[in-house]
Amino acid sequence: MTPPERRTRGRTSRSRLRALDAYLFQCERPLLERQDEAWRDAAFLDVGFGEHPWTTLESATLFRELNPHLPVIGVEADEGRASAAARHEEARTRFVHGGFDWASTVGQPARLVRAMNILRQYRAEDVEAAHTELGRALLPGGLVVEGSTDVQGGITAVHLLRRTPEGLSREALLFHTDFHQGFAPLLFRDWLPRDLRRRVQPDEPIHDFFTEWTEAWKKARELGAWEPRSAFQESARQLAASSVSVSTDPWLLERGYLRWQPSGGVPRPR
Ligand SMILES: C[S@@+](CC[C@H](N)C(=O)[O-])C[C@H]1O[C@@H](n2cnc3c(N)ncnc32)[C@H](O)[C@@H]1O
Repeated sequence: MTPPERRTRGRTSRSRLRALDAYLFQCERPLLERQDEAWRDAAFLDVGFGEHPWTTLESATLFRELNPHLPVIGVEADEGRASAAARHEEARTRFVHGGFDWASTVGQPARLVRAMNILRQYRAEDVEAAHTELGRALLPGGLVVEGSTDVQGGITAVHLLRRTPEGLSREALLFHTDFHQGFAPLLFRDWLPRDLRRRVQPDEPIHDFFTEWTEAWKKARELGAWEPRSAFQESARQLAASSVSVSTDPWLLERGYLRWQPSGGVPRPR
C-alpha cells in the first residue's frame, strides 16, 4: 500500500512507545524469546519509525534483554529518513526504505510488526488492507501491533492482531494510560486505532464497549474509587464481573493497562 501523497510529519518523541514496549516485554515474552528453527532469524519490524529511529532503538535495547540475537529492522516510506537512520545500524539492527509489505517482498520472516502512529494519516477504509500487508510476513503466532498514542506516550490504544492458521485475528484492543490526564474511559476516544476512531457512535460495537466501560467506571466511583488509578482498576473489575472480556491480571491493572479480548475478536466497525 502506498503512503499518502504528501510527505508526512515524522514526529517522534523519545520514550513515546515505552508503555507498549513494557507490555510486550511482560506479556509477549515467549514470542520475543523464541529461537527454534525459523524463529531464530524472525525480526522485530518497526514500520514507519519516523524522523529519527529513537523508539526503534529503545525497543531493540529492551527486547534484547530477552533475546540478544533479535534482528531489528526499521522500515520507513520516507527515503531520506531511512538513509539518515543508517548511522545507527549495527550487526543486528538495520534501517530500510519501504512500506507495509517490505518483509513479505524480501522474504524476511517477522515475529513482531509494529506500526504506531501511522494509520492516522490513512483513510479508514484502507486499514483492513494495511493490516493484511503488515501481517503477511509473520510466523504463525506472530503479532502486529497497530494504533496510536498521544505525543508523549501517556495515552495508548492499539490493536493486537495475531497470525493464526485462519489469517490475522483481531485478538484484542489494548489501552494504557499513565493517568497524567486523570481517568475516564472516553479519554481514549481520540487515540483509538484508525478504523475505530470516530466510530464511538450509537450502533457501533466500540460504542457499546465504551458505554459499558463508562457504566463500570461510574459504579466504581459510587463504590468510593474516586482517585484515577483506583477508579480505573475498579472499573476493569466491574467490567469483568459483568462478563465483558477484559483481563484482571493485577500486573496490567496496577500499571494502567486494560486489555479487551472479546471471544469473537475485536468487532469491525459496521
Ligand atoms: C508520526 S511518524 C510515527 C513515528 C513512530 N512510529 C512513533 O510512533 O512515534 C509516521 C511515519 O510513518 C511513515 N509512514 C507512513 N506510511 C508508511 C508506510 N506505508 N510504510 C512505512 N512508513 C510509513 C511516515 O513517513 C512517517 O515517518
